[in-house]
Amino acid sequence: MSRSAHPAGPRHADVLPEGHYTAPAEDLNALDPKVWARTVGRDADGVVTVGGITVTQLAEEYGTPAYILDEADFRDRARAWRTAFGTDADVFYAGKAFLSRAVVRWLDEEGLNLDVCSGGELATALAAGMPAERIAFHGNNKSPEEIERAVRAGVGRIVLDSFQEIVRVAHLAQSLGTRQRVQIRITVGVEAHTHEFIATAHEDQKFGIPLAGGQAAEAVRRALQLDGLEVIGIHSHIGSQIFDMSGFEVAAHRVVGLLKDIRDEHGVELPEIDLGGGLGIAYTSDDDPREPHEIAKALTEIVTRECESARLATPRISVEPGRAIVGPTAFTLYEVGTVKPLDGLRTYVSVDGGMSDNIRTALYDAEYSVALVSRTSDAEPMLVRVVGKHCESGDIVVKDAFLPGDLAPGDLIAVPATGAYCRSMASNYNHVLRPPVVSVRDGAARVIVRRETEEDLLRLDVG
Ligand code: LLP
Repeated sequence: MSRSAHPAGPRHADVLPEGHYTAPAEDLNALDPKVWARTVGRDADGVVTVGGITVTQLAEEYGTPAYILDEADFRDRARAWRTAFGTDADVFYAGKAFLSRAVVRWLDEEGLNLDVCSGGELATALAAGMPAERIAFHGNNKSPEEIERAVRAGVGRIVLDSFQEIVRVAHLAQSLGTRQRVQIRITVGVEAHTHEFIATAHEDQKFGIPLAGGQAAEAVRRALQLDGLEVIGIHSHIGSQIFDMSGFEVAAHRVVGLLKDIRDEHGVELPEIDLGGGLGIAYTSDDDPREPHEIAKALTEIVTRECESARLATPRISVEPGRAIVGPTAFTLYEVGTVKPLDGLRTYVSVDGGMSDNIRTALYDAEYSVALVSRTSDAEPMLVRVVGKHCESGDIVVKDAFLPGDLAPGDLIAVPATGAYCRSMASNYNHVLRPPVVSVRDGAARVIVRRETEEDLLRLDVG
């Protein structure tokens, strides 16, 4: 799903299966800044450091596996999005990528808003003190209780996803004597170039109300009639891990087309449009993501142009990046447990985590990079598959990569770009305990989400 692909071609033709991968020309000790958090480097002994702390210190103090998050990098990226979009637009960080109270506070301090998609995410946001009016509440099947909590809390917007929900939110708001600000999520019929499970704007999927066949227009018609709702705009999210801006272009064109139809039919110009998240990041050196300022410029230009030709005032734009902010800021630190060469195939490197801390490889065929981080090595590269400790052969963290041939149990390796959708999609499969998230900054580390314990597991198991 990442565009990354290692160039095919035999190098160790005698040991690698035909058509397999060429050992990388670059130094295996090098850390490509595209995929590693910004403060990552190696110290004089070759040990990787982040936020001024060595990974060996982090492993000693907090154990492995652990997600290590570079706070300065997170704040930089959040600020870059905020600055790029300026004061005429809003940036909602998509909490599903990774949410914790510390992260909510950083976002608040950096001036970002927050997109939540469940009662649990809403509770986390409110517990950390995010002002409710800066929260957007998403989801294709929000429960009546969740809707009530959101309305009572005073969230800035609820993104409506179905005809039933239009009525539910309207009734609830009215019964509480209030008018809820809402956007209507539509599907614009764009096929985003990404994995099927994370593309969301083609019509044959569960999110949003199709533009096709006039359904979206009908949804707006109904919502505008309901006293409990203040319709502030239209929402479109076309998918995730997208590099090509053309999908956004088509989406903006169609959303603005709907705004124009609404103006023509109802005499109302809706003041906002949200173009969702989905901007891709580099998981391997082959990926070339765009910078926030390029994205902001492109999106603003597209919307302005489309509105000019439709003779509409340009609405306030909002975006919802999740992965593009948090993804590159963290890596997963593992200890190597076993190294098992399979003759003529590859070497299986087992680590102390696996699909329970990173399901993306198994689920989406996602590609990741990996590096030896507790030391450097001049040994010949060997083709490896990094696997976890779960009872499942699909328990793969990095499918194909090169690590130094002298890799041994006890070495620390790290998988970069695991800040998004790894801890947030982590599971307890095999009763493996979910790793902590440790944030580092200016030579100090602190646990922002602690490691799960066997007591945590047993507390849920009521016997
Ligand atoms: N806004 C909406 C309405 C969304 O549904 C999503 C992601 C985002 C924003 C944030 O998208 P981002 O900028 O993070 O790509 N688990 C998958 C990704 C699922 C994304 C779901 N919605 C993965 O690991 O790739």
